[in-house]
Amino acid sequence: MKVRKAVFPVAGLGTRFLPATKSTPKEMLPLIDKPLVQYVVEEAVAAGIEQVLFVTGRSKRALEDHFDIAPELESLLYDKGKDKELSQVRQIAEMVNIFYVRQKQALGLGHAILCAKEFVCDEPFAVLLGDDIIDSRIPCLSQLLKVYERHGGTVLALEKVPMENISAYGCVRATPLEDRVYEVLDMVEKPKKSEAPSDLAIIGRYVLTPGIFPILEKQEPGKGGEIQITDAIRTLAHDEPIFGYEFDGVRHDCGDKLGFLKATVDMALKRAEFNGDFLEFLRQRLGPLDNMELKKVNAS
Ligand code: G1P
Repeated sequence: MKVRKAVFPVAGLGTRFLPATKSTPKEMLPLIDKPLVQYVVEEAVAAGIEQVLFVTGRSKRALEDHFDIAPELESLLYDKGKDKELSQVRQIAEMVNIFYVRQKQALGLGHAILCAKEFVCDEPFAVLLGDDIIDSRIPCLSQLLKVYERHGGTVLALEKVPMENISAYGCVRATPLEDRVYEVLDMVEKPKKSEAPSDLAIIGRYVLTPGIFPILEKQEPGKGGEIQITDAIRTLAHDEPIFGYEFDGVRHDCGDKLGFLKATVDMALKRAEFNGDFLEFLRQRLGPLDNMELKKVNAS
């Protein structure tokens, strides 16, 4: 069955980005000139997703407004003859069909996904986490969907991470099946380094089957006292095959200040408008470190 629906859990408070996120949803923080969430919605649309559900919380209005029409702004841009900006603004509202549901309590990622049950019904669906911005030639979700089409079942995006960072992720025990594809045998949410089964971390892209919902309904709180999707998928593995895919692309952890900064620099260097002056600025700032290889990336 074709995967048409995607769920975006966006109810998180963004405490790692305070005070910026006091009244602005973290998903609306801009990477250069586009809010984080727009990059991820664009990835979903490019992968063929037709319907998006935002699982939101209080104080996320800005996110809803961003994907709505903006009559005053549009007429102002029209009057000023700013056609390019006008079509950019319009295109955001027309991109995809968006639905909203509130996660009334912050009970964890698994709970957020459970809030999507009525929207998803009996179909396979995708989950995309907005903190992970993935820069890739083929959209990361398309890569996962290819594995889904081939093997069926649940598919998790995987990435090898340094062992000292593994306790920030869900971690899998998996056996390789074919190029980049694994069969996932077991998984654990944010293990201690000493208890991690591998260096393969789960990254914020999932293709899930509706079989996850009855499990989530009964799922006890796990790590951090939260209902964890990793624990539910672990249970699902008793009945259905779980696959992992080491995606091809560069992931930026934009839920983290350092990751966000790196993503900003990386994205800027890829854009023709910043490629000259900004690169020069970095060279000057780095001064003696200038012999480090600062590659001028081809303007996109
Ligand atoms: C969530 C998941 C975790 C996964 C991570 C990827 O954790 O619970 O298994 O590895 O996303 O970004 P969070 O980063 O929301 O704490």
